[in-house]
Amino acid sequence: MSELQHQTWSRLNDLEYAPAPESRDIVSIRPNYGLFIDGQFTDPGSHQGFQTINPATEAPLATVALGSAADVSRAVISARRAYDQVWSQMPGKERAKYLFRIARLIQERSRELAVVETLDNGKPIRESRDVDVPLAAAHFFYYAGWADKLEHAGFGAQPRPLGVAGQIIPWNFPLLMAAWKLAPALAAGNTCVLKPAETTPLSALILAEILQQAEIPPGVVNIVTGDGSTGAALVSHPGVDKIAFTGSTEIGRRIQRELAPSGTHVTLELGGKGANIIFEDAPLDQAIEGIIDGIFFNQGHVCCAGSRLLVQESIADEVQRRLVRRIEQLRVGDPMDKNTDVGAINSAEQLSRIHELVDAGVAEGASRYSTTCTLPDKGFWFAPTVFTEVSQTHRIAREEIFGPVLSVLTFRTPEEAVAKANNTTYGLACGVWSEKGSRTLWVAERLRAGVIWSNTYNKFDPTSPFGGVRESGFGREGGRHGLEAYLNV
Ligand code: NAI
Ligand code: MG
Repeated sequence: MSELQHQTWSRLNDLEYAPAPESRDIVSIRPNYGLFIDGQFTDPGSHQGFQTINPATEAPLATVALGSAADVSRAVISARRAYDQVWSQMPGKERAKYLFRIARLIQERSRELAVVETLDNGKPIRESRDVDVPLAAAHFFYYAGWADKLEHAGFGAQPRPLGVAGQIIPWNFPLLMAAWKLAPALAAGNTCVLKPAETTPLSALILAEILQQAEIPPGVVNIVTGDGSTGAALVSHPGVDKIAFTGSTEIGRRIQRELAPSGTHVTLELGGKGANIIFEDAPLDQAIEGIIDGIFFNQGHVCCAGSRLLVQESIADEVQRRLVRRIEQLRVGDPMDKNTDVGAINSAEQLSRIHELVDAGVAEGASRYSTTCTLPDKGFWFAPTVFTEVSQTHRIAREEIFGPVLSVLTFRTPEEAVAKANNTTYGLACGVWSEKGSRTLWVAERLRAGVIWSNTYNKFDPTSPFGGVRESGFGREGGRHGLEAYLNV
């Protein structure tokens, strides 16, 4: 950069953005939500509820029903009836009509869904508006197209659905994870009982309203809000034919152990410790943006986050210098502001997990740089952070932090990059940045991960399968592969 360019850049950097808050008038969040069972909102048998709050302000948003084992059972019975009598009998082209309708209704109510997602989750409105909600609609559109073509999907002449699917989702992409789970299951002819995460139930409850608007037959989708005990009741219910889980490796392991002796089908999408590998010939401007997006997108609450940066030693100083400059530009704050880059941490529990691991990073001798941004007084916040001088044995290089924290390691040769990238118990995603296609392919062939991005990161598309190996789980979501998880093949 020339001196003049540098001066211009510094001046631009000093400019303040005026607040540009999205209006929340478009949504009317009800004070109380029941469980969505058999096509109706119903009170939980236990009459117990819990509050969901806005993590950016700690203000309560609504009281949501805490589903008990008896409620889960009602939902499973309803799903079974709908499966036997309606959904599994319906021709694929009829099922497709419902999926198309749901997709279009998500689009129609997209602003409302984006605002609710941001209020309940803390993610920037720019992301819920431009990523979560459009991708959720895209998943329903995509799988609507498969519903009448299952015999051409490569799984035999007449692939059969599995039956009742129990689906447990996390809080990092609440609506999108609901879409990832429901769309392929329904396209394949299964009925569903969905358990949203306890800190982010609201977008799934709006989705329940959308299902009513779409006039999907009662029982085809049931949404039972609650906590881990609700999820556990779903896992152990004998009427469930398939469990699809996205969440922590710890709970995934527990589910696998419990269901191993049974005939229940299982797919698990668990944590990760993705390596983002930058070679010295990489297009650096793009790579810096890819590193930023890889770890600070959604506050780093991303299972495939590029949380380990592996940078070739010859360019490590420059990359680190540029990174520090770039993260200082990230706007951290009000998630409802359209200019915000990094929003609130989803919960007090998640914030304390991040603190614990970051403290461990400092104690183990890594060098910490956190941005100088001012954090709001209320709510759960963590400043974008980069650790350098990280060694492979440090906890921050091994454990999933699930927050806006990057660990930087270096390598000299492609062999060393591969060895370090694979030195993890996880295997979800990696990024490779290089001008040279042959090098990228050489590296990609040797990486043990379900998803490998080349000169990009965190790219999602309904047509593309996503999933892990090793402790990141098994089974694929998205694409033709995503159907397999819901067919008896
Ligand atoms: P979690 O695994 O406890 O929660 C995920 C979902 O599972 C929620 O809906 C929860 O209610 C449900 N659940 C909890 N216990 C259950 C049980 N015994 N049986 C059935 N369902 C159960 O994850 P948590 O506590 O929210 O986050 C802990 C860590 O897990 C995070 O710090 C992060 O490292 C990782 N994580 C990974 C995610 C991913 O996308 N792969 C998503 C969320 C968390
Ligand atoms: Mg919440």
